[in-house]
Amino acid sequence: MKLLLTGGAGYIGSHTALLLLQRGYDVIIYDSFVNSSYKVINAIKSYLDADGIDYKLKTIKGDIRDKSSLDKIFKDSIKEGNAIHAVIHFAGLKSVSESVKYPLNYWDVNVCGTKNLLEIMKENECYSMVFSSSATIYGLTNSVPISEDQKISPINPYGKTKVAIENMLCDLFKSNMNKWKICSLRYFNPVGAHPSGLIGEDPIGIPSNLFPYITQVAIRRINLLKVFGDNWDTEDGSGVRDYIHIMDLSEGHIDAIGFLMSKESIYEVINLGSGKGYSVFQMIREFELSTGCEIPFLIEARRDGDVANNFADISKAENLLGWSPKRSLKQICIDGWNWQRNNPQGYT
Ligand code: NAD
Ligand code: WQD
Repeated sequence: MKLLLTGGAGYIGSHTALLLLQRGYDVIIYDSFVNSSYKVINAIKSYLDADGIDYKLKTIKGDIRDKSSLDKIFKDSIKEGNAIHAVIHFAGLKSVSESVKYPLNYWDVNVCGTKNLLEIMKENECYSMVFSSSATIYGLTNSVPISEDQKISPINPYGKTKVAIENMLCDLFKSNMNKWKICSLRYFNPVGAHPSGLIGEDPIGIPSNLFPYITQVAIRRINLLKVFGDNWDTEDGSGVRDYIHIMDLSEGHIDAIGFLMSKESIYEVINLGSGKGYSVFQMIREFELSTGCEIPFLIEARRDGDVANNFADISKAENLLGWSPKRSLKQICIDGWNWQRNNPQGYT
């Protein structure tokens, strides 16, 4: 089966691409490389080559806003007699703070880019998509665990673009309920790395998320961690989140593709998380215990837009996809540290 992975060179896309190739899928990665490195492609290939796996991977540099470039990919595949069956749509911009500064760019890339892609898919009769949505769309809710029917209330432009895309996908499905098969996966906090240490998360500049910040403190690229508040209404006062191992998350995409292929037509929104909440202090402690690295930290004021407690109800993913997360917080820390230690400067 042939899949197009937009944004397939990024953090989540690269881990999913590697798994798909290992399992015999034919993969095209389409990425502008605006937030990723070509080195990730070489890392994927070298892992598969070392494993003696026969794989079919094509990488194309391009922007999802470029319709003619997208159209050529679909048409070329049809001409080769090996049409694209489905798209996993990872491509997009994902920084909350950047989206506040440059909202038009976020609406353009995320929403207009997705509209372009859907138009080209329709023209080429490819009707299946797994979309990267985000738990950020639940906004400032404090009612946990968060299930898919909880109120959608995004508080930043990034989250609003994800809601707009989900609405567009739902409208499209309703316009032709015999054809479209669409699944929006609402990720919670993806963290960690491939166990080989060959691919992992490589944020540009100073990380804004907790886990890559911790690994960069551990490798001493950053002096200390700032903990945003120790007076939240949680057990130890620090913020609680749902950290999911990147390999568990990647497996969720393969199950989502299998789920779509088993249906005549469908539209579903599904949470992907670990279903468990861990606090910042628990994360620091687990990282120190699992890796032996000390993580010096300082308590700072709360960060704007944060909530106390946020973790997923994952029963829908378990029931519909037959998926469940298998890896522990300890495994997250071991694999994330292995990647950072082997690649102190990331891909650069
Ligand atoms: P990432 O930035 O590592 O990957 C996104 C990829 O898309 C990058 O390789 C980037 O170069 C590419 N891209 C960006 N704009 C593009 C464009 N116009 N055309 C083609 N390619 C383009 O991010 P990620 O963490 O792998 O996230 C993947 C998806 O999952 C994103 O849509 C993101 O919003 C969503 N998501 C991520 C998280 C998270 O915490 N990482 C959580 C929830 C949802
Ligand atoms: C986790 C906890 C912080 C950094 C973000 C996006 C969301 C989604 C996932 C894309 C919180 C605390 C953090 C630090 C800290 N991405 N923290 N010091 O905020 O749950 O979600 O990433 O869709 O849209 O908003 O994740 O990793 O930033 O924060 O104390 O330096 O760690 O306050 O409690 P968050 P995070």
